[in-house]
Amino acid sequence: MSNLSVDHLLGIKYLKKSDVELIFKTADNFKKIINQPIKKVPSLRDITIANLFFEDSTRTKLSFELAEKRLSADVINFASGSSSVKKGETLLDTVNNILAMKVDMIVLRHPNPGASVFLSRNVDAKIVNAGDGTHEHPTQALLDTYSIREKHGEVRDKRIVIIGDILHSRVALSNIYCLQKLGAKVKVCGPSSLMPKHLDSLGVTHFSNLKKALEWCDIANVLRIQLERQDVNYFPSLREYSMLYGIDKKILDSLNKEITIMHPGPINRGVELSSDVADSKHAIILDQVENGVAVRMAVLFLLAGKIQGN
Ligand code: NCD
Repeated sequence: MSNLSVDHLLGIKYLKKSDVELIFKTADNFKKIINQPIKKVPSLRDITIANLFFEDSTRTKLSFELAEKRLSADVINFASGSSSVKKGETLLDTVNNILAMKVDMIVLRHPNPGASVFLSRNVDAKIVNAGDGTHEHPTQALLDTYSIREKHGEVRDKRIVIIGDILHSRVALSNIYCLQKLGAKVKVCGPSSLMPKHLDSLGVTHFSNLKKALEWCDIANVLRIQLERQDVNYFPSLREYSMLYGIDKKILDSLNKEITIMHPGPINRGVELSSDVADSKHAIILDQVENGVAVRMAVLFLLAGKIQGN
């Protein structure tokens, strides 16, 4: 297959396995390019992309911007903190005004689940979801899965445990969809209060014991506790969370095998990961960041190919 089955990247849920494979094959080429002395290609020279971030972000925003620039797209950036959203403008009005300036693609991060699906139905531009509230974060899952494929050769039959705040995590949901599409075995681990009620329907089971989870898995993807999304206390204290679910060198040394440690960032050192683990050779956290640029280049390139006349 040489093109995506979708016109927008709204969530992993809407992708076919062949879409994910096409994105990875395309990312392989872009990864070679960004490791050359001349890191830029002219592929999106005629495309204008607006990055609309209604929520804080470091990695995702910079990664998209770099991916766009490496593809030679024209790029404009918008952060809601310094915009007319503060004056009461709706999302649709903001976006339609931006599109009137002849923008072809929108990369949207928004606190409301479903914001990018809503935009895709109401505006005439390709939409890439860069994280919509607690719903999905498709490019993060693609870069995570790509990094597993790179490190372990293939994803099929690998055992991945996602640890931490599954309830509030769009990274967890998108990873579950993506890994399962490629035939991996996925489980989650963390306090029951941070597990969504619909885990069963996702085909995922839950470990409440960290050691058992680590003994089971080949790869641990460790999440941040999303305090900004928690309206009530889901556990007694961060110290207690860290004692029960924090990964340190001691617990890794107690296993009879080596496991790969992943984290989408930002890390809360000393809470979910100790510094010696975050900085160890088991961690592929910075490889994930590097792969993020190549994977986002692939997504933007493939979606731009669907713009009429391009
Ligand atoms: C994640 C996010 O924003 O959803 N980070 C990221 O995109 N790199 C996870 C998080 O904020 O903990």
